[in-house]
Amino acid sequence: MNIRKITDRVSYCGVNDRTTTLFENLWELPMGVSYNSYVITGSEHTAIIDGCSEKLAGIYMEQVTAVTGAGKPDYIVVNHVEPDHSGALPRLLLRFPDIRIVTNAKAAAMIEGFYGIGDDRLLIVGDGDTLDLGDATLRFILTPMVHWPETMMTFLEQEGVLFSGDAFGCFGALCGAVTDDETDCSRYISEARRYYACIVAKYGTFVSRAIDKCSNLSFNHICSTHGPVWHSRIGEIVDLYGRMARWDARPGVVIAYGSMYGNTESMAEMLAARLVEEGVRDLRMHHLSYAPLSRVLADVMEFNSIAIVSPVYNTEVYPPAARLIEALGNRGIRRRNLALAGSYSWGAQSVARMSRMTDNWDVNRIEPRPEMKQHRLSDSAEAIGRLAANLAAAALDNK
Ligand code: FEO
Repeated sequence: MNIRKITDRVSYCGVNDRTTTLFENLWELPMGVSYNSYVITGSEHTAIIDGCSEKLAGIYMEQVTAVTGAGKPDYIVVNHVEPDHSGALPRLLLRFPDIRIVTNAKAAAMIEGFYGIGDDRLLIVGDGDTLDLGDATLRFILTPMVHWPETMMTFLEQEGVLFSGDAFGCFGALCGAVTDDETDCSRYISEARRYYACIVAKYGTFVSRAIDKCSNLSFNHICSTHGPVWHSRIGEIVDLYGRMARWDARPGVVIAYGSMYGNTESMAEMLAARLVEEGVRDLRMHHLSYAPLSRVLADVMEFNSIAIVSPVYNTEVYPPAARLIEALGNRGIRRRNLALAGSYSWGAQSVARMSRMTDNWDVNRIEPRPEMKQHRLSDSAEAIGRLAANLAAAALDNK
């Protein structure tokens, strides 16, 4: 049980999940994940903010009951309907038959669709609406597409607490500590980058809008749905999210390569060595058949340059490299230096295919685009050297 008082009126009652290995059945969770929920106790009414997944509804109900005691919560505010936060709703409604779900119209339609819960249990709010809990006032701020169309935030005016939904969240279960000043947060910051890259990156424009919309609020706690409560490091997490939303990056190169027999890997190794000779000091290499895609995406969020090196496979791009290209395109990659290189045994198609697949990316394309036949590495050395020089110059310039 991990219940913690955050402020006079706000208590944490979220749960940790260390047994789900893939978030959304896609993304690795080496440190687990938390589903954060909060209870606000006003002088007249009590509200829960956000819920948890159905899988952990049992322990979650214990947590909620421990905070509310003999009193019954009047409201559950649903900032985001994705089932990692709404899965326990049916259980909550069963336990507290008089509780009302406070949410916006888009979310209400989703709640009906997921759980068959109808209007009689709902209190619909719009942008800027408030809910009076007595000596506590909740203000609702619609922030669509962070990360679904119905997402909103809730602001506790009297105490400056922003319940931000998925925004400013991260992977990583909480280890006893709830607020950022109770623990070393460096690993949560790292997991925030991976979380953003996997879950939110496609919606960067909306993240920027949400940050702008909240900029006139005076908040001293950010209570997101995943990860620690931000208090001492609010500036750092807001800045990180803002930078990622703008695709800001620091100088460095990610080499992401596919290789069946080690020949394309030799190209990638040669490129890496040349980049270091050219002065690049932050360099990450990923063998795409083995590296978790989430890790590669997180590195691409962090560094300003990427080189994708792939062999041809059945006249197409090698599938692990194609998967990465698709994932980056889906997220709207921009403001990166992009280098492409490839190899083939009998049909030179890889670089041409990758070029077409990345054609609509808003990136700085680095030339040349070497393509090696079989293992004729020495034939490609000169082109790889020129590519390294040009890529290093662009990466270190970091405009
Ligand atoms: Fe943590 Fe988009 O749900």
